[in-house]
Amino acid sequence: TGMFTYDPGFLATASCESKITFIDGEKGILLHRGYPIEQLAEHSDYVELCYLLLNGELPTPAQREKFENTIRRHTMVHEQLTQFFKGFRRDAHPMAVMCGVVGALSAFYHEAMDISDAYHREVSAHRLIAKMPTIAAMCYKYSTGQPFVYPRNDLTYAENFLHMMFATPCEEYKVNPVFAKAMDRIFMLHADHEQNASTSTVRLAGSTGANPFACIAAGIAALWGPAHGGANEAVLTMLDEIGDESRIDEFVARAKDKNDPFKLMGFGHRVYRNFDPRARVMKKTCDEVLQELGMADDPQLKIAKRLEQIALEDDYFKSRRLYPNVDFYSGIILKAIGIPTAMFTVIFAMSRTIGWISHWNEMISNDYKIGRPRQLYTGAPQRDYPQR
Ligand code: CMC
Repeated sequence: TGMFTYDPGFLATASCESKITFIDGEKGILLHRGYPIEQLAEHSDYVELCYLLLNGELPTPAQREKFENTIRRHTMVHEQLTQFFKGFRRDAHPMAVMCGVVGALSAFYHEAMDISDAYHREVSAHRLIAKMPTIAAMCYKYSTGQPFVYPRNDLTYAENFLHMMFATPCEEYKVNPVFAKAMDRIFMLHADHEQNASTSTVRLAGSTGANPFACIAAGIAALWGPAHGGANEAVLTMLDEIGDESRIDEFVARAKDKNDPFKLMGFGHRVYRNFDPRARVMKKTCDEVLQELGMADDPQLKIAKRLEQIALEDDYFKSRRLYPNVDFYSGIILKAIGIPTAMFTVIFAMSRTIGWISHWNEMISNDYKIGRPRQLYTGAPQRDYPQR
């Protein structure tokens, strides 16, 4: 290949050193700062995980309280930011709105431009952790035509998100603790996943010295696609399209057909060639939520269960080691909680923001170079402009 290593899709290229997250895809291991995701999901919560990812160590009780208070202080968005929403068509996809509004945060915090200052970097991270749920819920409220709901700082992070999503000025939303716990798990299981496409995008954008809000907006854009964060939404769209248990075989046959681009959404992963450890925890949470709702007989969920079984037993999926991934189960949980499908990827984006900003901060705190891949040129050789 001449001068450069040619590695399309980065199958064999490490783009950076990192101390944040470790994955062993063969064994199905995921560690954040050394701690197994299963233990974190069981004993910790999203806010603590944010602290851990950002700072490298679990907080002491005093550090935790301080961190939580700081996050609470930043939950509101500038009132002027509401104007940005109003510029969007009300049937705009909430991811389109979120990309735009988060990018617009750059215009509100001028001190964030000074990325060489560790204190300013930390404040930007706190602002993002605190404001993303508010912005996400506003994206939803705008699409329904309901008024925006202000954050309530007496609630936990997950409760507050559900409150901003579902409360109205005429009615309180009584948060179901099973839902709040499930939401918090979904946030945790999406928090970070080392150098995935969106995180790599954030690092690449950040390597030019761009401000953190602009970098996160770039990450949101990269997350949107169905091969990445858009998969949780695509799972539900697919279940809808299948529609009836009698049509499952037809869709499975299509997924196996080399001449058909159709893939079973929510199955397979670039790194995991084993059961994704996050999917295991998500599956358990999924069962809990469905149990709570008495929804085990839901037709769409029956289709999902059957697909899961096929993927675990069928030779095509077994030989390629295509297991149900985290988005397969999270989509089902979100749907059961009553979150509309178009919001699924938005929730992934708000959960992943801590991962993005931790990677950005890690890069900026150390020596880094602008990310500038090379290419293999395969176009026309040099030629002369025709004399006409
Ligand atoms: N359904 C049917 N066949 C599949 C699927 C699927 N979902 N995924 C992969 N394959 C086949 C693929 O056709 C290929 O077959 P062959 O070897 O015969 O050519 C083989 O499995 C290997 O797949 P690949 O395309 O080389 O794998 P990749 O690492 O390039 O792609 C992926 C990984 C996640 C993009 C892909 O599995 C996929 O598109 N899955 C569906 C979308 C999805 O659920 N994405 C969410 C990923 S997890 C959350 C996140 O990180 O965002």
